[in-house]
Amino acid sequence: RPRVLSGIQPTADSFHLGNYLGAVRNWVAMQDTHDAFYCVVDLHAITAGHDPETLRRRTRVGAAQLLAAGLNPDRCTLFVQSHVPEHAQLAWVLGCITGFGEASRMTQFKDKSSRQGTERSSVGLFTYPILQAADILLYQADAVPVGEDQRQHLELTRDLAQRFNGQFGRTFTVPSAFIPKETAKITDLQDPTAKMSKSASSPAGIIDLLEDPARSAKKIRSAVTDTGREIHFDPEAKPGISNLLSIYSALSGRSIPDLEEAYTGRGYGDLKKDLAEIVVEFVKPIQERTATYLDDPVQLDKLLAVGAEKARSISAATLRTVYQRIGFLAPA
Ligand code: TYM
Repeated sequence: RPRVLSGIQPTADSFHLGNYLGAVRNWVAMQDTHDAFYCVVDLHAITAGHDPETLRRRTRVGAAQLLAAGLNPDRCTLFVQSHVPEHAQLAWVLGCITGFGEASRMTQFKDKSSRQGTERSSVGLFTYPILQAADILLYQADAVPVGEDQRQHLELTRDLAQRFNGQFGRTFTVPSAFIPKETAKITDLQDPTAKMSKSASSPAGIIDLLEDPARSAKKIRSAVTDTGREIHFDPEAKPGISNLLSIYSALSGRSIPDLEEAYTGRGYGDLKKDLAEIVVEFVKPIQERTATYLDDPVQLDKLLAVGAEKARSISAATLRTVYQRIGFLAPA
């Protein structure tokens, strides 16, 4: 079986619909076709300032949500990044073969550091994509299911894998990004040209999986739509309605042409009303299952410990090879 790895940051109290449709939904599907490793990346979550108790809570809530969304610990390996020390260890080695200029070109770093100013942005924020490369390469992943915003980090990961292999001998699988077009970029409901994001300026534009479903329904109903009245998929000319169609199609399993036809001659209001109901029915069971997992944190932590154990059996072997190839003296 090909191997897959992906990660998600516990930087909010809930994941949003963009996280689910862009990534997590594919993680669930790939459990059946791949040898799957998924992690809650808490090391990545401390690069821009955080509160310790909040991080601990969000890490558990994050894991519970992933299970509630359909990850099955018998069919995949779910773990917390900081439980597996090899991630930070490999990141150091990869950092030493990454060019400063190369890292400086990462657009996510440029965006985030320009908000805070480079003086106050952490070095961790700068080296973030190198840690992400370590996450992926440790497991010899063939595929990495992510949203469009991670494409550049995946390119860097591939470059680093090839560079290391070239310099020190074939060590890493060179991974491919898995970014299905239809849900690669779910956009903000209030600003349909921007991606739906945890750091969005207004909560009205994002659907949180764990928020009150009535609130989600209201957000869908008041989503910004485009001029004109025709329900037609055209992300350039009609970004608002196209985003709603993408969400509708992904959650209902109906194709976009099928939806266009079904809504011919009907207004935006009808589409929004129906989609609002679909979203409500979708989040309700996720919320219930998340609550069940959180009711028993001891059991949840145990499950994550088992995941970390399984992850380490792979990551430790890769790191051993890396240390050997790079010329570190093996401890006697
Ligand atoms: P993060 O935590 O920001 O997001 C988790 C996943 O959700 C996807 N995503 C979206 N997809 C479609 N539309 C959107 N509006 C949207 N918003 C977010 C992201 O692309 C991502 O797949 N750097 C990563 C975490 C990470 C990682 C890894 C991923 C760390 N190590 C190793 C893959 C492999 C991040 O910040 O994701």
